[in-house]
Amino acid sequence: MNYEDFMLRAITEAGRNKYTAKPNPVVGAILVKNNEIISEGYHEKFGENHAEINAIFQAKKLINKKFTSFSELTLICTLEPCSHIGKTGSCAEAIVDSGIKKVIIGSIDPNPKVSGKGVDILKKNNIEVEIGIHQDLVAEQNKFFFYRHKNNKPYITLKIASSLDGKSHFNSQERVYITCEESNDDVQKLRAENDAILTGKNTLLNDNPRMNARVNFHVNQPEKILLSKSYNPNLDKLERPFFKGSKTTHIKNNDIESAILKILQNDICSILIEAGPKLANAFLESGFVDELVVYTSPNKLGETAVSWFRQNNAIEKYGFKLESSCKIGCDIKDIYLKNGKK
Ligand SMILES: NC(=O)c1ccc[n+]([C@@H]2O[C@H](COP(=O)([O-])OP(=O)(O)OC[C@H]3O[C@@H](n4cnc5c(N)ncnc54)[C@H](OP(=O)(O)O)[C@@H]3O)[C@@H](O)[C@H]2O)c1
Repeated sequence: MNYEDFMLRAITEAGRNKYTAKPNPVVGAILVKNNEIISEGYHEKFGENHAEINAIFQAKKLINKKFTSFSELTLICTLEPCSHIGKTGSCAEAIVDSGIKKVIIGSIDPNPKVSGKGVDILKKNNIEVEIGIHQDLVAEQNKFFFYRHKNNKPYITLKIASSLDGKSHFNSQERVYITCEESNDDVQKLRAENDAILTGKNTLLNDNPRMNARVNFHVNQPEKILLSKSYNPNLDKLERPFFKGSKTTHIKNNDIESAILKILQNDICSILIEAGPKLANAFLESGFVDELVVYTSPNKLGETAVSWFRQNNAIEKYGFKLESSCKIGCDIKDIYLKNGKK
């Protein structure tokens, strides 16, 4: 195996932690000696050890068995080792302290606050550094993390469940289930992929949703965000399942741009909007939505139901192009991207 093969292995294995490491990126690290793997480490869970620390920890158990000094080893890691003392300490400093003398990095960290600083620490301590092996794959597998830092905004996906005649719900406030079980399961996966779910006041009051990811694998549950000026938490917050199970934030504001700035103050890299037509259209008009996922059922709700859009071809008018379309149960799932951009 060569460095490219080790990097591919680190990327592939790191990907297994996609749902538990988020909103952190998934990262893999492999220590090798003469093309033989000595140890591997992965960032498995948000808030826990980074990949490099785990790889070094595992290798320490094999010292004087498979190698005598860390200076004999090369570290292959998918993402630049962090320079900052966050929840778990600086990985770059830990690499220096271990005595490793060569580091191969897939991609530089896109976060402008840390980008290049980890590499600087390594180089200042006479560690040989190579950068760029399978850089695109690392960026692709951490799409939301890279997007957030390159664009200074989270990646925003809007989910819509629509009847065949373009309706969202009835004004009667009674909850209506539009899509089939397969689509509903798919939405649970969408929730699991995202760092936060955002909704508006009417959906909270009418549907009383849990808005958690109900999936059969481990997931760092998405945070929940309510955007509402008038919701009074003193009335019924304690009884509402929305406010249970993961961190919830109530932004008492209708201004989307300032809400996004507030959300950016924490680790969130992606948001799934699950709201009714009022908030969904406000987001589309704001221009901040990157992706639209539309589940369309074969059934109609009729004239008395509320329409998603006030005009025909609204999705295209908002600048979205169809990226993919597939059948899911008896529904159709369409994914649209802003101006067709990936
Ligand atoms: N079919 C689906 O996929 C789907 C998904 C979710 C919900 N729904 C249905 O949608 C219905 C509710 O839809 P809706 O359109 O009446 O309400 P909504 O979009 O869920 O919520 C609207 C509320 O959000 C708040 N909001 C915050 N910022 C806003 C902004 N910039 N623009 C507009 N509103 C903003 C406002 O409350 P404040 O005045 O308090 O600020 C507003 O009244 C529910 O009954 C539910 O069943 C359907």
